[in-house]
Formats: sequence, structure tokens, C-alpha cells
Amino acid sequence: MSADFPTYAPSEEHELLRSSVRELAEAKIAPFAAEVDEESRFPQEALDALVAGDLHAVHVPESYGGAGADALATVVVIEEVARVCASSSLIPAVNKLGTVPVLLAGSEGLKERFLGPVARGEAMFSYALSEAEAGSDAAGMKTRAVREGDGWVLNGTKMWITNAGVSRFYTVMAVTDPSAGARGISAFVVDSEQDAGVSFGPKERKLGIKGSPTRQVVLEGVRVPADRMIGAEGTGFKTALATLDHTRITIAAQALGIAQGALDFAVGYVKQRRQFGKAIADFQGVQFMLADMAMRLEGARQLTYHAAVKSERAMAGERVPDLTFVSSACKALASDVAMDVTTDAVQLLGGYGYTRDFPVERMMRDAKITQIYEGTNQIQRMVMARQLLK
Ligand code: CAA
Repeated sequence: MSADFPTYAPSEEHELLRSSVRELAEAKIAPFAAEVDEESRFPQEALDALVAGDLHAVHVPESYGGAGADALATVVVIEEVARVCASSSLIPAVNKLGTVPVLLAGSEGLKERFLGPVARGEAMFSYALSEAEAGSDAAGMKTRAVREGDGWVLNGTKMWITNAGVSRFYTVMAVTDPSAGARGISAFVVDSEQDAGVSFGPKERKLGIKGSPTRQVVLEGVRVPADRMIGAEGTGFKTALATLDHTRITIAAQALGIAQGALDFAVGYVKQRRQFGKAIADFQGVQFMLADMAMRLEGARQLTYHAAVKSERAMAGERVPDLTFVSSACKALASDVAMDVTTDAVQLLGGYGYTRDFPVERMMRDAKITQIYEGTNQIQRMVMARQLLK
């Protein structure tokens, strides 16, 4: 195969990156994963370790002070962190989600001002699209931005915002023209430290990803200068959806990592656990379960890597007509696989799997969110079908 043959297979550099992230994740993140879940606390140890290893926001281009990792490398980082702690994997994943609108549509000034602090690990960046009554129907949002003098004044409440409170910056989608539907939505950068009127609701009490705070972002008369608008007025909804075309792939990566963590643990367990005078790994019924888990996981991984390479090409300016399809496809497939694989891992551990003495029940609870956020898997299927039928 010639060196420039187009391929989505990870390169030697990607595999070296995987080994180094795995080492860091096992040494510095895994030891706190159970405690972070148990106490529903932010994984500060993970943030510190990721920042020290320059792995907290690898996707930020070098021109803005970042590591300049490609989309596949970003997937590998998220996968390896999620393999030990799903909550911690939301640090690189949400930093990407919050900043992609700026990367895709922001002015040079916005990029220079807001990407540097994220690249340096001084600030995190979240994405605020959803509202209490506008989840799947994101365009039904009510948050308003009204022009006043040389700026905009934002009022409204965003809901389900991942890493709210720990992130300093937010991409906020708000209605600038209520008569124009989705074409009347604009995107803004809000700086919760500089812009008066930003507050956060209480932490949601969730089934999983308990280490990552999910809170409302409340905007009360938040005045931002006009140059904080991302792209042109009325393009915010398109930017929001174009962003998800890139970042649903990172949720797939998270799902793959969670599933791999559960599979690895289950493989180790069945070789140790003895019943009827032999290791349960010797039973064909157990072997078939493991084979199915690994087979489906590898299939989802290959689709995710394929999508990541398409994302990278699109980021570089190439027209990639099927990015929307593959992004939704890998997110839906990987998250469905992760739910099945983690549930089977609990099954393989039997009663022990159902206790908090083993990590697989946490992984099963964490996997569930990947079928829900960044668009439910029902929405992903709707997006895929629209692409097929258009
Ligand atoms: N890229 C760019 N533009 C796009 C696009 C894409 N992928 N898909 C659609 N558009 C454009 C359309 O062309 C249309 O523009 P025009 O009017 O100029 O033609 C406009 O956007 C509106 O599109 P639709 O008419 O298709 O919009 P819709 O209201 O019917 O619904 C939807 C679209 C797919 C259902 C969308 O609302 C959706 O994805 N909903 C799910 C919301 C979601 O994923 N939320 C995730 C929140 S973030 C999160 O969860 C993060 C976290 O915690 C980690």
C-alpha cells in the first residue's frame, strides 16, 4: 500500500498516543473513578493529569496554542480516558464540543481570545443548546438575545449543560429573531467570569457520569459585545448542528471506551472465577458472550474511526457530504453497543457485577447516557433517515 493511500486506520503515532494515554489514565484517573462516582464529585485529579499531559483539549489547532491533534487522535484520547472513567472523558469531549462552533464559524478574534485559555488548560468550554422544553426539538428554544446598542442582552435558561459551573466559557444558542424559526437563532460566546448575570442551577442527580456536573445555565440580562456572536446573525442553529456532526463522533468514542473497559474487566474476571470445578471462561456460553461483545465493539470502533477521518477532512475544508450520516451512525451504533456490552459484563460477573465492589455496574450506568445526549438515538435515526431520503 502506498504511503498516501487514503485510510482510516490509526497510524503508528495514533497507537503510541493510545499507549501513553492508557498509561496515564490507569495511573492517574482510574484510582479515583469509583470515588468520583460514589461522591458525585468533579474529577479534579483527572483534570490535573490531563492538563499536565496536554490531553485536556487536544483538538485545539497549534495556531491557537493547542496540541493540534486530528479528529482520530482526539477519539483515541477520549476512548482511553472513558475506558477507566466516563466522567473524566467528558473533559476532552466537552472542551471540543464547546469550541467547535468557534472553530467552524467564529471570527479570528474569537478564536484567538477564547481558544488559547482552553489549550493552556486555564479554562474549559461547554455547549449550551438544550432547554427544559427544547431537547430533541432544539430549534424550539426560548432563550432570547436582544440587540441593545453595540451589544446583545441574553435572557433564558439552558438545561442539561455538561460541565456547567466548572467550565468558564459557553457557546450559547439564543433566538435573535423570533419570527424566523431556526433561521432566527444565533450563537454567542459567554464568559461566566466576565459577563454579569450568569448563574448555575443545582447539580442534576443522575444515574451515571456522576463526576461531570450537569446543571442549568441561567442567563439574566447578560450583556455581551457584538463581536461575541459566532458567525453571522441567524446562523447559530446551523452552526450548532454542524458542530454535532463532528462531536457525535466523540460521544461514540466515549461509548467505545466505556464498553472496552467493561469487556476488559469481564475477560479478566471469567478467567479467575471458578464454578463447577473450572474457570467460567471454559464454558462455551460464556465464550460466545465475550465473542459477541468484542465483535460488536470492534465493528462500532471501525465506523467511529471512519467517521473521525471524515470529520478531520471536513474540518480541513473538504466537502464531505456523508459526514452527517456517519456521525449519527457511529454515535447510535457505538452507544447501543456500549449499553449491551456493559450489561453483558454485569451479567458475566453475576451477583458481584451488580455490586459497587466492581466497576462494571458503574460502566453500565455511564453507558446509558451515550444513548441519550448529543441527540437521542431516536434523533440519530431520524437524522440518518433524512439523509437517505433527501
Ligand atoms: N449541519 C448544518 N446545517 C444543518 C444540519 C447540519 N448537520 N442539519 C440541518 N441543518 C440546517 C438545515 O438545512 C436547515 O437550514 P435551512 O432552513 O437554511 O434549510 C436548518 O439547519 C434546520 O434544519 P432542520 O429543518 O432539519 O431542523 P429541525 O428543527 O427539523 O431538526 C434536528 C433538526 C436534527 C431534529 C435537530 O434539532 C437535532 O439534532 N436535535 C437533537 C438535539 C441535540 O442533539 N441536542 C444535543 C444537545 S448537546 C449535548 O447533549 C451535549 C452534552 O451534554 C455532552
